[in-house]
Amino acid sequence: MDSASPAPMDSAPGAFWRTIDQAVLARALTCPSLNQRGQRQVAKTIETGIFLPVGNHGWIHSANSPAIEDGSFGRVLDITRRAELRGFDFALSPAIWRGRKGPTNHWMHALESITTSAALLQATDRIKVFATTHMVVYPPATIAKMVSTLDQIGPGRVGLNLVTGASYLDMSHVGLWNDDLDHDKRYDLGDEWISLVKQFWTDEIIDFKGEFFETDNGHMGPKPSKMPELVNAGSSDRGFRFAAENCDIAFTLANDEPKYLSTVRRTKEAARELGRTDLKTYGSITLVPAETDALAEARVKHFNDGVDSEAVLDIIAGYAQNKDAAKTGANSKFFTEGAPPQALMDGYMSGSYDTLAERLATIVNDGDLDGIMLIVPDYTKDLDAVTDHIFPKLAEYGVLTRVTPNE
Ligand SMILES: Cc1cc2nc3c(=O)[nH]c(=O)nc-3n(C[C@H](O)[C@H](O)[C@H](O)COP(=O)(O)O)c2cc1C
Repeated sequence: MDSASPAPMDSAPGAFWRTIDQAVLARALTCPSLNQRGQRQVAKTIETGIFLPVGNHGWIHSANSPAIEDGSFGRVLDITRRAELRGFDFALSPAIWRGRKGPTNHWMHALESITTSAALLQATDRIKVFATTHMVVYPPATIAKMVSTLDQIGPGRVGLNLVTGASYLDMSHVGLWNDDLDHDKRYDLGDEWISLVKQFWTDEIIDFKGEFFETDNGHMGPKPSKMPELVNAGSSDRGFRFAAENCDIAFTLANDEPKYLSTVRRTKEAARELGRTDLKTYGSITLVPAETDALAEARVKHFNDGVDSEAVLDIIAGYAQNKDAAKTGANSKFFTEGAPPQALMDGYMSGSYDTLAERLATIVNDGDLDGIMLIVPDYTKDLDAVTDHIFPKLAEYGVLTRVTPNE
């Protein structure tokens, strides 16, 4: 690490507990709150992470998005180091293949996920880094070896976000769309793909004969120091099954509105039905915080005043041109077809620090979530608001994190 690196975290046992206001903690532990369905909640610690803004304009589709989110590697590195310093558990870099039409040139510059993850692992000490891969793009041997190498760079800290890809436009323009694979077939390929990757990571000799892949007396080293954590973010029934059968964590777009909460709960139920009582569920949540509800609303309005409608319609068209788009879960598409274009992705939440703490607690408690991954407009100021104001209030609702406020 260079001299600009942040000081290492205090990792002594108990450091996290010392940073929480003891009165708040005592209340959280001894006075379980009631959730919206009147059930008692006991305090629990969740995993927290950030969805890295690896493309220009981050996740705000607007001419008024914070200019600081330029999608450059330097910026992503700075954000990841700050997140590590604050105590976030993980950072996830998405896999993006295409920029958007429209005047803001949204995501015209977007970093590649695996090489970005390699550099982030080298530059950090503790935080987990999830790289994203489209299973239909890379053969299993390629990713198995890349991830084993990532594990040498950041031992035990690498994870993999497995996606099938659902936007025709995102992938076809660079020759990565395979029309022979329909929605469910892409997941069938995924089942085979990940089972072969796991064999590369564990077995000495790999003789594999499947519908899509084959090996011949294969071998691979190095083996990862521990099995990399696997996540999937599909929201179709087939996607849930893939996650339950192959992954450690299922991600879903989350919000405290009933339609989102039911999907969040459904993810865990689907896993239980498939016998996966240990599958963790994480919510991906967009927050627009401010000191008051009115100021937060004004921020949303400012973003919407500059909305790049062409970019949003382009994203929607990308999913619509997938010939079996109807099978893709609504929560996987980020925007709703037919709705007026808005700068923020579906399910965003704006509000004061108190409002957002209460709403986040509802999602975690009522959605039975094990973790959350945050999207914010400005990953400096807004993450400070999260760590200094929102997460400390979360503890009052019995939801604890390992994140510590700024001194
Ligand atoms: C938290 C989260 C992260 C995602 N990351 C990516 C990504 O990096 N690249 C991508 O093409 N799709 C990404 N997606 C989209 C879905 O995973 C993708 O469309 C999925 O393959 C379709 O799933 P489904 O048909 O089961 O709904 C993400 C979705 C969510 C909710």
